[in-house]
Amino acid sequence: MEVVITLSPQHAAEVAADSICRLLEDDPRSVLGLATGSSPLALYRALIARHRDGQVSFAQARAFTLDEYVGLPPGHAESYREVIRRELEDHVDFPAGAVTGPDGHAGDLSRAGRDYEEAIVSAGGVDLQVLGIGTDGHIAFNEPGSSLNSLTRIKALTRQTRSDNARFFGGNLEEVPRLCLTQGLGTIRRARHLVLIATGAAKAPAVAAMVEGPLGAACPASVLQLHPHVTVLLDGPAASGLQHRDYYETAWAAKPAWQGV
Ligand code: F6R
Repeated sequence: MEVVITLSPQHAAEVAADSICRLLEDDPRSVLGLATGSSPLALYRALIARHRDGQVSFAQARAFTLDEYVGLPPGHAESYREVIRRELEDHVDFPAGAVTGPDGHAGDLSRAGRDYEEAIVSAGGVDLQVLGIGTDGHIAFNEPGSSLNSLTRIKALTRQTRSDNARFFGGNLEEVPRLCLTQGLGTIRRARHLVLIATGAAKAPAVAAMVEGPLGAACPASVLQLHPHVTVLLDGPAASGLQHRDYYETAWAAKPAWQGV
């Protein structure tokens, strides 16, 4: 993993935006993987600003979101499909239908999971997947105990995740759905480049377990240790649990600036 300890959450967002802009410049038909939650919001704002400045276009791109709650009414403001629409899609030039998410309203959710896998494969796979990490070590909604090879499927959320996400539901834990349809760890591992953003001290234990802890289902994000191209963008507080922080800083400083992440 390439661990980059950035100066601030905004700096982390700009480094991630650089990577996405470079990808779309090289191949405008690239397939993006989009995360929700608060971690990528500064990235999406940076992409919107660059799009408005004419620096990046999504006109030929496609995107797949990571996960969706099950049990929210259609169009609910906190459904992940709505969040992506509001935070990114409505402000850039993705063509209609270019952004897709798992169908949390499907009558047959197992079938919806399989269909989602097929859609990603038919699109040629994800070129760059944006990720956040939960305080319990989840990526997408692969909670501790998830199979490291899992594919898109229905999953129950831990109490910790529901309580972390209650802030999006007026602080009311009971309003947070208990189930979701989520890409699996196997799905995420197929993406060609993974860019994970984590900021704030609350993420420090999960980040340390992901980067330096043993590989295992106790910290689902640790499966990223097996991936050949992972970029972990942190701010100082999120990096505070890392034992080898000095090394990561030295390695990043030694990297030629033109190379990017
Ligand atoms: C969201 C997702 C989750 C979040 C994680 C962190 O699509 O898949 O894994 O990335 O729960 O959430 P925030 O960024 O809100 O701390």
